Amino acid sequence: MSNFKFGDRVQLTDPKGKVQTITLKEDGEYHTHRGWIVHNDVVGTPQGSVVETTAGMKFLAFKPLLGDFVLSMPRGATIVYPKDAAFILGFADIAPGVRVLEAGVGSGALSISLIRAVGERGKVDSFERREEFATVAKKNVEMYFGTLPENWSLTLGSVQDAVHEKYDRVVLDMLAPWECVEMAATVLEAGGVLLAYVATTTQLSEMAETIKKSEAFTEPESIETLLRGWHHEGLAVRPQHRMIGHTGFLIMARRLAPGVIAPLRRRRPSKGSYGLPEDEA
Ligand SMILES: C[S@@+](CC[C@H](N)C(=O)[O-])C[C@H]1O[C@@H](n2cnc3c(N)ncnc32)[C@H](O)[C@@H]1O
Repeated sequence: MSNFKFGDRVQLTDPKGKVQTITLKEDGEYHTHRGWIVHNDVVGTPQGSVVETTAGMKFLAFKPLLGDFVLSMPRGATIVYPKDAAFILGFADIAPGVRVLEAGVGSGALSISLIRAVGERGKVDSFERREEFATVAKKNVEMYFGTLPENWSLTLGSVQDAVHEKYDRVVLDMLAPWECVEMAATVLEAGGVLLAYVATTTQLSEMAETIKKSEAFTEPESIETLLRGWHHEGLAVRPQHRMIGHTGFLIMARRLAPGVIAPLRRRRPSKGSYGLPEDEA
């Protein structure tokens, strides 16, 4: 990685661990309650340097990692958190060369991870219904990559109304992903992955049942990840007291070959799973 230059985003961490992100501009200044940092002095130094304000306050300087960038970028809609983006890339098997259909784009956090993972040989076609969110997402993607990536397209509109191509992966982050299951079955190649990120159990249930009813996919699988940081101070090594208790659920299924009906799973649903039978209701 090269030394800092004008236009770079720099993450400054103070001795208390508080983080600020600045963009280096010619003759720019970053003011704190104890002096200021002259941007020109940061340019040319390597990452991991200590930069000082005019009053001697010290900051560690790094370029933000993807996760840092996403958490500090402007937001329109709620973003997919870095831990969930990492699992989405892993479970949906988003790899170089893969063709991804994504909706909705929201603030563009997940789009950035997808675009980076598919590389130059792959592509991400993203759809967003709301113009104001699409504008925020476009700026965020451009700010992250330094230019609008050639392997990315952003279309304004509902994803289920506008897609006529074939894809290897369909990734959904929206209120009602079940409205897109039929469309996903149409555009996905056999073996392709449908993955949705939802926030509540009622959404999870609706999505699971719609996938099953469609008969175009394998039995859906769902997961939730809980991430707990650790504290280490000498012998005091323990879980951190605070954690984010809930972000969302991932639900995924694979497209069957057209016309194939998957063999039934040999299990009986427990009583009441689908409501009471009519004679008991
Ligand atoms: C939670 S946000 C997505 C956040 C995004 N994944 C991120 O990481 O920044 C959900 C977005 O989906 C959009 N949306 C909902 N239904 C849609 C549809 N059928 N087609 C396209 N966009 C849709 C909404 O306008 C909203 O911006």
